[in-house]
Amino acid sequence: MDQRKILITGVSRGLGRAMAEEFIRLGHRVAGCARSPQAVAELSERFPSPHRFDVVDVSNDNQVAGWANLVIRNIGAPDLLLNNAGLINDNASLWNVPPDEFSRVVDVNIKGVYHVIRHFVPAMIERETGVIINFSSGWGRSTSPMVAPYCATKWAIEGMTRALADDLPYGMAAIPLNPGIIHTEMLDSCFGKNAVAYPCAEQWAKKAVPFLLDLGHEDNGDPLTAPA
Ligand SMILES: NC(=O)c1ccc[n+]([C@@H]2O[C@H](COP(=O)([O-])OP(=O)(O)OC[C@H]3O[C@@H](n4cnc5c(N)ncnc54)[C@H](OP(=O)(O)O)[C@@H]3O)[C@@H](O)[C@H]2O)c1
Repeated sequence: MDQRKILITGVSRGLGRAMAEEFIRLGHRVAGCARSPQAVAELSERFPSPHRFDVVDVSNDNQVAGWANLVIRNIGAPDLLLNNAGLINDNASLWNVPPDEFSRVVDVNIKGVYHVIRHFVPAMIERETGVIINFSSGWGRSTSPMVAPYCATKWAIEGMTRALADDLPYGMAAIPLNPGIIHTEMLDSCFGKNAVAYPCAEQWAKKAVPFLLDLGHEDNGDPLTAPA
């Protein structure tokens, strides 16, 4: 398979980290971001150029603009853009969620995805190819108690991604992806001690990464679920 340029947000841990390692293992070139400077420094040391890892908060439009500039100049427009970075609210009924926390979940899960699309997709459109995967959730298609802010953002991702698919020129794709249920820090937060019953991110990535590499313009707008 030819080498692809893969952009991943939220590479410091969980699914983003496991995907970055698996794409690199398969010979692809990865550009990733997260807020944690320690994790970014560690990834940069372990996976030097042609890969690159930057400290970026996707909820900050200026930071995403600077990052996009650097990545597009040094690596080029991504072939596969994975909007993976995400937050979940601490388990609470909606009326007990503090306003700041509600805003943070919206700022990362919805506006962060929009910022990344706004700054990277024009270069992909110019090249007329590329696949954009926005990480949704089972909770983007169903609901549960205690996670209403998170559900709101993932239902938004489903709608925003399908509308983006309508905007894209022929040859490109935007896909909302439910990754399944995987044992990460996010799952520890919402599932508590039941989280350990689920597969780890590294196991998940072994099947998810080849699945993601196979997606193309024929999948544009289709809400998909990663293989279990
Ligand atoms: N795990 C599951 O079962 C599951 C199920 C359905 C959907 N998902 C979705 O899959 C994606 C990954 O989830 P996960 O389970 O891997 O979560 P996780 O273990 O909590 O990891 C989240 C990642 O997002 C990054 N991140 C958070 N806020 C950020 C920001 N403002 N800017 C840049 N990066 C940010 C975190 O890095 P820093 O903290 O260093 O910034 C971290 O690398 C999320 O979109 C989630 O909603 C997961």
